[in-house]
Amino acid sequence: MNTTSIINESLMGKGSFWFPAARTSLAPHTDQLYYWILWASIASFIGLFMVVVYFLWKYKYSPTNKVASKQIIDNIPLEIAWTVIPSLICLVIFYAGYIGFLHISLPPSNATEIHVVARKWMWQFDYPSGIKSIGELVVPVNEPIKLIMTSEDVVHSLYIPNFRIKRDVIPNRYSRVWFNANAIGNYQIFCAEFCGDGHSAMLGSVRVVSKEDYQKWQKEQNSGADLPLDVLGEKVYNSKGCNTCHSIDGSPKTGPTWKGLWGSNHKMSDGKMVVADENYIKESILDPKAKVVAGFQPVMPTFAGLLSEREINGIIEYLKKLK
Ligand code: CUA
Repeated sequence: MNTTSIINESLMGKGSFWFPAARTSLAPHTDQLYYWILWASIASFIGLFMVVVYFLWKYKYSPTNKVASKQIIDNIPLEIAWTVIPSLICLVIFYAGYIGFLHISLPPSNATEIHVVARKWMWQFDYPSGIKSIGELVVPVNEPIKLIMTSEDVVHSLYIPNFRIKRDVIPNRYSRVWFNANAIGNYQIFCAEFCGDGHSAMLGSVRVVSKEDYQKWQKEQNSGADLPLDVLGEKVYNSKGCNTCHSIDGSPKTGPTWKGLWGSNHKMSDGKMVVADENYIKESILDPKAKVVAGFQPVMPTFAGLLSEREINGIIEYLKKLK
């Protein structure tokens, strides 16, 4: 769909043929179970195949084949064996899966709670300290993090392959998942539930940092006051999800490009011409459906309450620079 949908390999880490690198305490358990099921399936497939080939040969019809004419009607020990053995295998798989399910469902009581709001097409994270980030979840390493998730529109699904967690995010209810990231780094977040046009671009990342860096990041997020407006605008563009739908190089995405947008005349879906000035930009951020540029869908969510007055001014100043 666009450049953001190309998966950044550095975000996944070097893993095995089957999986990206495992980065939580739970991940090895999940992988073991997966390999167990995989090898059990391969073994039974090969076994079954060999038996079928052998029977084809042994019981092939011919007038002289005495074995083929002898029908076996009942064999109680055989029937018990092929009922009990697969049932036991299923029970083992169920038990291992249930242990994993319990683990992922029951966060430790000291877990830091972060709220996740999904909407078309972005991930928003609300931290206990009042910080909001879009598209990037920043967490300290080796600390339990509990995500309390809901959706503002359709069903999405938060998927972090390195953490081996995937949970549906559903409108009008909360779903929970937790993890304990055990290695510093950047990891990919996907939406794993088809949710419309921008589904493939509904990406995010988890940045796992040291405890010190986490404190530092929180301080930085709370300030921002000392940045020049256009620099602040660029930061907002990259950190609040604008870059998901708006390019700055003229290439088309879900929304109009920001390159050359400032001061230009735009035709709206109702045929009216509008000049991209301060009022238009601010209105488009707070009430995106008020004026929709012709040729685009009215899909942008409102950023009311998500951006400060200064951040909106920052975007305006940043747009002025994108000639
Ligand atoms: Cu959200 Cu797919």
